[in-house]
Amino acid sequence: MRDKDLEESFELISMLADGGIHSGTELAVALGVSRAAVWKRIGKLGALGVDVIKVRSLGYKLPRPIEFLDVAILQKHLSTLMPDLAVSVEVAKQVDSTNLALLRRTRSTDDLVVTCLLAEQQTSGRGRRGKAWYSPLGENVYLSILWQTELSVAKLNGLSLALGVVIATMLSDVFGINAQLKWPNDVLVKDKKVAGILVEVDGVIEGPLRVVVGLGLNVSTERETTEPNGHDWTSVQAHSERSASRTHVALNVMSSLLTALSEFERNGFRTFRQRWMALDAYAGMPVQVTFHEHSVAGMALGVDEDGALMIDVDGVVQTISSGEVSLRVRA
Ligand code: BTN
Repeated sequence: MRDKDLEESFELISMLADGGIHSGTELAVALGVSRAAVWKRIGKLGALGVDVIKVRSLGYKLPRPIEFLDVAILQKHLSTLMPDLAVSVEVAKQVDSTNLALLRRTRSTDDLVVTCLLAEQQTSGRGRRGKAWYSPLGENVYLSILWQTELSVAKLNGLSLALGVVIATMLSDVFGINAQLKWPNDVLVKDKKVAGILVEVDGVIEGPLRVVVGLGLNVSTERETTEPNGHDWTSVQAHSERSASRTHVALNVMSSLLTALSEFERNGFRTFRQRWMALDAYAGMPVQVTFHEHSVAGMALGVDEDGALMIDVDGVVQTISSGEVSLRVRA
């Protein structure tokens, strides 16, 4: 969608965002355009995946309210929570992928600050193992953090697990949700996936490593899986009695991840390991692990001090540290 159309569409959505009925005349006056132009703009919202309900002789409404992220609140509260850390917070209306956007930035400038980039919608959200990440407008948190570290690539192995630990812990502490982890970093609630993490490293050879940490957390999206052996999806709102405004969720996610990044820089995965084990959804269960086109079956034993998965296969402990691994409970 062209920038001008995107701006106009978001202007219209923010007027409908409260979920109430708004007449064509009211919208036309507020936008300073004709009613025909309002009708035309409403037609374009379908391209953003936003349905508008026409209420006969009364006007238009959204099927449910949409809360846009409030960048001023995010920046202000983050500076209060983390006064010693200089962080830039940005919210994009629409982006292909927040991870890709920050990776592009690492290549176009040398002058990097820690940056949190959130988006209202991703058109090509990226998941692990080359999968797409479903990213509808205004429903969830799509966040990437650009971070520089002196750690080596090898030391980063446990990073995504450590980040899974703090997201699961935050869901419990802030939203009263009993979340668990599936190796390496799927965050599950009652066996349905609520969040995923994708850590990508820019391929620079010299100097500090530039790492992009991507987190997708479902705030209101719930759906059944479309993949064989995939997880169904759930959301924060489905499991929490407490207010789950997207801005509030995003703020807690950002501060948890930023705190974890500095702890990881100091200690590596070591101080996260016990917490990961305590949250392990598959501990002691018979599992099947598929990687590099072959499969092993054994008993899940948690993770080692580097975050590698340990399984007992006929009395021999095997560790799996990387590769395209899919893990599931044996029937
Ligand atoms: C997974 O497959 O479990 C990882 C999903 C990571 C999704 C997030 S959403 C924000 C960031 N931008 C992306 O394109 N992907 C990550």
